[in-house]
Amino acid sequence: MTVSYQIFGPEAAGMLSEMHRLSFQGGGEQIWSSSDMTTLLAGSGVRALMVSEQSQPVGFILWREAGEEAEILTICIEPAHRARGLAGGLLQEFYGIISGSSVKDVFLEVNETNASALVLYERNGFETVGRRKNYYGGRGGDKQDALVMRYSC
Ligand SMILES: CC(C)(COP(=O)(O)OP(=O)(O)OC[C@H]1O[C@@H](n2cnc3c(N)ncnc32)[C@H](O)[C@@H]1OP(=O)(O)O)[C@@H](O)C(=O)NCCC(=O)NCCS
Repeated sequence: MTVSYQIFGPEAAGMLSEMHRLSFQGGGEQIWSSSDMTTLLAGSGVRALMVSEQSQPVGFILWREAGEEAEILTICIEPAHRARGLAGGLLQEFYGIISGSSVKDVFLEVNETNASALVLYERNGFETVGRRKNYYGGRGGDKQDALVMRYSC
């Protein structure tokens, strides 16, 4: 399987939004529309790296850089392409990109019940540094904590 990576900006908003929808549907997370994605990608320091299998886009990571810190805004792989190391590959490619920048620490928030994401982040060097109580869910449903995780470059 040939895997390739490509950096994208606002011109890819529609494609990234569709991958985001396919990846998060049914998970209770907010889906970002094409216009949400355009706004995000136009933000200062925001970049997206997409992963393709056999030239077909199947997932991406979106992050924001600010000085010595970066924040992962999302990472997702379409369901049919999971558990094959693609998200791990994206993170490693991302680490290579930021290694040439001023970033020293990468942060993210993850739902404490998101088992596959927790395994992904721990296997790729993130450690838990905080907890935001009842950060996800609500509106009558169960609430879950967010874990704040950090990767030191
Ligand atoms: C989280 C997500 C990006 C992982 O993508 P993926 O390509 O399947 O991940 P990988 O194949 O690179 O797996 C990374 C590690 O997690 C493990 N893993 C993957 N899915 C798992 C699961 N359901 N349960 C336990 N471990 C799992 C893999 O075995 C692998 O470990 P290894 O490196 O020791 O082999 C994907 O499940 C996804 O898009 N989920 C929906 C969006 C989401 O929740 N994003 C994170 C928001 S913070």
